[in-house]
Amino acid sequence: MIVIIDFGSQTTHLISRRLREISIETIIVEPEEYFEITNDFLVSGIILSGGPGDAYKKDALTIDPKILEMNIPVLGICYGEQVIAQVLGGAVKPGVKKEYGPATLEITHTSLLFQNLKSKIQIPKSISVWMNHGDEVGKLPDGFQTIGKTDTIPYAAIADESRKIYGIQFHPEVVHTQFGMQILKNFAAICGLEPKDQPITKEFIDEQILDIKESVGKEQVIGALSGGVDSSIACLMVHRAIGDQFTAIYIDSGLMREGETEELKKVFSDTYKMKVLIVDAQDEFIQNLKGITDPEKKRKIIGKTFIDVLEREAKKLSATFLVQGTIYPDVIESAGTKHAKNIKSHHNVGGLPEHMNVVLLEPLRNFYKDEVRAIGTLLSLPKEITHRHPFPGPGLAIRIIGEVTPEKIRIVKAADKIVRDEIHEAGLDDSLWQVFAVFTGIKTTGVRGDNRAYGETIAIRAVESLDVMSSNFAKLPWNVLEKISVRIVTEVTEANRVVYDITNKPPGTVEWE
Ligand code: XMP
Repeated sequence: MIVIIDFGSQTTHLISRRLREISIETIIVEPEEYFEITNDFLVSGIILSGGPGDAYKKDALTIDPKILEMNIPVLGICYGEQVIAQVLGGAVKPGVKKEYGPATLEITHTSLLFQNLKSKIQIPKSISVWMNHGDEVGKLPDGFQTIGKTDTIPYAAIADESRKIYGIQFHPEVVHTQFGMQILKNFAAICGLEPKDQPITKEFIDEQILDIKESVGKEQVIGALSGGVDSSIACLMVHRAIGDQFTAIYIDSGLMREGETEELKKVFSDTYKMKVLIVDAQDEFIQNLKGITDPEKKRKIIGKTFIDVLEREAKKLSATFLVQGTIYPDVIESAGTKHAKNIKSHHNVGGLPEHMNVVLLEPLRNFYKDEVRAIGTLLSLPKEITHRHPFPGPGLAIRIIGEVTPEKIRIVKAADKIVRDEIHEAGLDDSLWQVFAVFTGIKTTGVRGDNRAYGETIAIRAVESLDVMSSNFAKLPWNVLEKISVRIVTEVTEANRVVYDITNKPPGTVEWE
């Protein structure tokens, strides 16, 4: 197996997931526990992940230097490259220019790490890579040579081929890095392993369903169903496993998209014959959000209100298990690993009070969204469910900047419906990860008829992504944007300006709050 030492990067698990896709077993360990954990394993290679720290600082996370002396191939990614430089006598410094997003890597030397990047890649040749760093290697350790550089950094890829130690400043695990998967395959081959493609299979899903059935026994199970892809697929998996022993609870927070509640009822109750309990809690949510403007506070309050309502309903049903549609990015973005920084508090992660006395069932906890969709397809779910655009747990509240009021919800709902209708009409649903409207809270001057108008600014966010650890803003056709804009300012009379968000992630997250 390959051991991944985690320095807290948002993409550590993505490395593991990419390796799983090519049948390579991995284990993720904290830097300080490497020897303790790997004692009984046959380790073929080590990957040092990225991380938010500064490798040159005194108390920075690092590794025991012995790890680099074991004759086991090592690949350092981003912060991991910097750790290698720092530990082996090179140096790391704050970058003059920080890089977040795409960059061009010029491959300057042949290397085992850069083999088979399609025959058209001759040396020197450029590939597109994904960067996310502030610091950089400033001095190479002895024995290393540069194998790739960018316009901004001279040591973007380094190697000591004799010791099989490699460092790359970019992220091969992110889909935006061209040939990223091949680079990981190359590293696996350097480790003496045989990478083989391995997609998620029907047998794998059957095993998971059997697992759920066995762990639940004859107990009652409830599930928080939001109508989003994740909770829908998680609930349907459990429904497949135990049928009527399962009741889905849908909490109508009033923060859902237009028409959501009705549609959900139709799909799950009528088509799938699932027991669905719809709880109207709109007033409770609005009341709890009164006067709150801080995004993290909003998220926490919404999370708590969901739990309160769920707890009340769960008591009535005396359930032993609770199904949640938590997927891997929710875990990692809520600082689910020891050294990761908290980016946003995802309300569906780990927020259950202990006294609630239910056991969590999270069948999708280790999967990324595209894998979840593949699971849905293997369960024969229709595309309308498996390929729905995701919708965040805190709903429209995190798309309303400032205090959430019924009036603002009404405005953003109406604008959002127009955005989604026009995107659907233009046949663009499948090319986008998500598309929605944001109530920015900025009022601007306009003119309506012959009068001055002072109205709201609506922003449109449309992104493309595969696993949402990174995403690009969509280059929507101008005519579609124009149609959306004209319809919003005409039909939503409180709005007199529409803007388009052209920020990639990183550094911008998908949701505004
Ligand atoms: P960000 O804004 O973090 O969003 O780039 C990444 C993806 O996650 C969704 N999202 C959430 N999903 N609970 C969820 O279930 C949450 O609290 C939450 N916050 C963001 C977001 O819509 C995007 O698809």
